[in-house]
Amino acid sequence: DGDVYKYYSEGEWRSSTSGQSVAIVNPTTRKTAYKVQACTQEEVNKVIDAAKTAQKSWAKTPLWKRAELLHKAAAILKDNKAPIAECLTNEIAKPAKDSVTEAPDAKFLDLMKVVRSGDLVSYCAEEGVRILGEGKFLVSDSFPGNERTKYCLTSKMGFLDCSGDDPTGYWHASLPLQFKPNLISFDKIPLGVVLAIPPFNYPVNLAVSKIAPALIAGNSVVLKPPTQGAVSALHMVHCFHLAGFPKGLINCVTGKGSEIGDFLTMHPGVNCISFTGGDTGVAISKKAGMIPLQMELGGKDACIVLEDADLDLVAANIIKGGFSYSGQRCTAVKVVLVMESVADALVEKVNAKVAKLSVGRPEDDCDITPVVSESSANYIEGLVKDAKQKGAKFCQQYKRDGNLIWPLLLDNVRPDMRIAWEEPFGPVLPVIRISSVEEGIHHCNASNFGLQGCVFTRDINKAILIGDALETGTVQINSAPARGPDHFPFQGFKDSGIGSQGITNSINMMTKIKTTVINLP
Ligand code: G3P
Repeated sequence: DGDVYKYYSEGEWRSSTSGQSVAIVNPTTRKTAYKVQACTQEEVNKVIDAAKTAQKSWAKTPLWKRAELLHKAAAILKDNKAPIAECLTNEIAKPAKDSVTEAPDAKFLDLMKVVRSGDLVSYCAEEGVRILGEGKFLVSDSFPGNERTKYCLTSKMGFLDCSGDDPTGYWHASLPLQFKPNLISFDKIPLGVVLAIPPFNYPVNLAVSKIAPALIAGNSVVLKPPTQGAVSALHMVHCFHLAGFPKGLINCVTGKGSEIGDFLTMHPGVNCISFTGGDTGVAISKKAGMIPLQMELGGKDACIVLEDADLDLVAANIIKGGFSYSGQRCTAVKVVLVMESVADALVEKVNAKVAKLSVGRPEDDCDITPVVSESSANYIEGLVKDAKQKGAKFCQQYKRDGNLIWPLLLDNVRPDMRIAWEEPFGPVLPVIRISSVEEGIHHCNASNFGLQGCVFTRDINKAILIGDALETGTVQINSAPARGPDHFPFQGFKDSGIGSQGITNSINMMTKIKTTVINLP
């Protein structure tokens, strides 16, 4: 139906029988940029059924074939980066230079450079072949041209000695009966249907970070993209379609959260949910059934700055960490906790850099672009007003035009201000002056979030001690928080998430262990 993007089910692009669509508003123009299908619950049922069926034979498909298709999809994704980058600009106002990290537009990309999303898919294929192929046996289908017809026992470490009687871990038929252990072999088998729900800020990269591990591990996928970012995601799915995956293995439904959101996450046909986003994740985790969950939710990543820190390095990282993609990253620096003695000097350095940030349209490759929605801009404004009323020092004038908010550093923020605890997901950064390291650690740990934190000091011993004390999934020493490189483990504590991501962890999380016990006579 003309201008409404179709959803993808059973290997085909389809229009919903609902006859309805969901509008995607361009954050810059605040006009409808695209429309996607509003799928019905019945269509979700069909998609999940198809995914269930396709998964059964996919699980039996040789590992090298799965890897081969993923490599193909990665290459097609890289070749088709231009239309995806254009969608990212229209749907989520991602500046072209940041789109490079998602699906770079050729005109902004050094073509020799690696593309993050495509590489993530390829790395999953490689890693999957290693960790699923080597296990306790070597299986023949890791290598091109072979079926899984040969098993090669590579190490006695492949067996667990359950008897507890054999201290060397070595078993031998000649051992007296009482020393003969039970032997257990392990196999990592797929979970089934993985429901992947990425967020608006990385609708492609955080979709493939779920899809690729799921597929290499032998699962099928139902993708529910965020409304803003849905068309970028549909383009990405088309790359997988072109790669020639079996029908029904990858599916993508779009629609209203109120109609299909809970229906999807509570669906009995879903065997795993991998979600990245905000508070919705907490609600999902309470409603989902007894299935593995991988959740990456919000963060209030603190940047702790000690007296001996290299303040130029800190200022550069505060700009990169706090203001890239206008602060709309879970891992953005969201509060600076700086020792009073160096606070003036640091604030001055950061302000000098803030003054140089370009503000405007993503098409012009500006540093600061409109935030994703009007409601998001209103929320940010609420935090700013609260801070103003309670006496924060504004280092720049607060300025807003539609969804565009100019970068703002708030000094002298105190714990009674909302912005000390809440995440603006915008280009507004609070500075809290601290008089001791303990005060900084206490503030960081009092947060209900625990994604990442960072500490700047030249004293590595102090850095390690502070890192150990911070209740966050990752601590960065002398650098801003970040998820990548994508094969590093990535996890949040407390309300920041469940489980750990990163390529290896995601592949492992999307499998279950099945054991076969060989009982010796
Ligand atoms: O906000 C999503 C989160 O995964 C951030 O990723 O790469 O910007 O650190 P990154």
